[in-house]
Amino acid sequence: MIAPETGLALCRLLFSAAAIVLYGAGCFFAFLAPLRLGREISAAAGAGIRIAGVVSFAASLSWLPVEAAVIGGGWPSAIDGPTLSALAFHTMIGTAWMVRVGLALLAAALFIARPRAGRGQAMIAAALLASLALSGHAEMNEGARRTLHILNDGLHLLAGGFWLGSLIMLPACLARLRDPVLGGEARTALRRFSQAGHVAVALVIATGIVNSALILGRWPDDPSSPYQSLLDVKIILVLAMTGLAVLNRYYFVPRLKTWHERAVAGIRTGTLVEIALGAGVLALVAVFGLIDPSG
Ligand code: HEM
Repeated sequence: MIAPETGLALCRLLFSAAAIVLYGAGCFFAFLAPLRLGREISAAAGAGIRIAGVVSFAASLSWLPVEAAVIGGGWPSAIDGPTLSALAFHTMIGTAWMVRVGLALLAAALFIARPRAGRGQAMIAAALLASLALSGHAEMNEGARRTLHILNDGLHLLAGGFWLGSLIMLPACLARLRDPVLGGEARTALRRFSQAGHVAVALVIATGIVNSALILGRWPDDPSSPYQSLLDVKIILVLAMTGLAVLNRYYFVPRLKTWHERAVAGIRTGTLVEIALGAGVLALVAVFGLIDPSG
């Protein structure tokens, strides 16, 4: 049997990954892809999006019992009525849990019914992902600093989620660049993604630095601290993602006309590696978000 702490990190990882898929798909269909392209890609990606809906709800629901097991020091606390009700109704963890379960239920129902999200649906996915900010280290602050921390964390999640979540839809878009009917729309979606992507990358880095400053009050340069070491690995992964994004945008995209096949292959490989690195980022945050930053 895994330790409750591992269960909680797993819960955080599954939730953040599934919420990012929903939010990324939502942004892609509502804001980036023109109509016909959106229809075509949602037909192909519908099953994956529905699974993300189910996973985000299941992870949200199990969060509270797993948290109870962590606090109670063993799995029996996960099904202990008084512990669960005290946690649910008398703590911030419980309030965050109720908000998240409600949003996850709504998002799952909407995305299962219609994977090709409209703007309202994309906003619900955004709120679901941003609700993660209610369970991070922002909780260690009070008053205005706490509000600022939660807002910064929410923005961090939305910017990072846009970058990583929309990337997931990109290979399907690349595959249609030479399509006689959908090629123009695929180019439009790619151009829109690239424009918004610049802003998202800048925002995620800026809010990540503010997050680090609010939590640590210093640059994470102490290798004896597990929190700082994991944060450093995360920063290295994000730098690698940024390098690949720059390579795609400024080396391969300008060569799409003259060198089509090789440029598309280059962008696709870069995108898949970026997604893998992004999954690593989520796994790291799922773990170090639970570690004491002062240790
Ligand atoms: C692709 C880029 C990134 C993604 C997808 C990403 C994702 C995330 C996620 C999902 C969280 C968890 C939020 C929570 O539990 O409240 C988080 C928190 C955080 N991120 Fe990022 N992030 C990215 C880039 C960065 C960068 C560049 C930095 C630093 C310069 C950074 C620093 C932090 C810090 C300090 C936290 C707070 C963790 C805690 O609560 O202890 N992130 N990020």
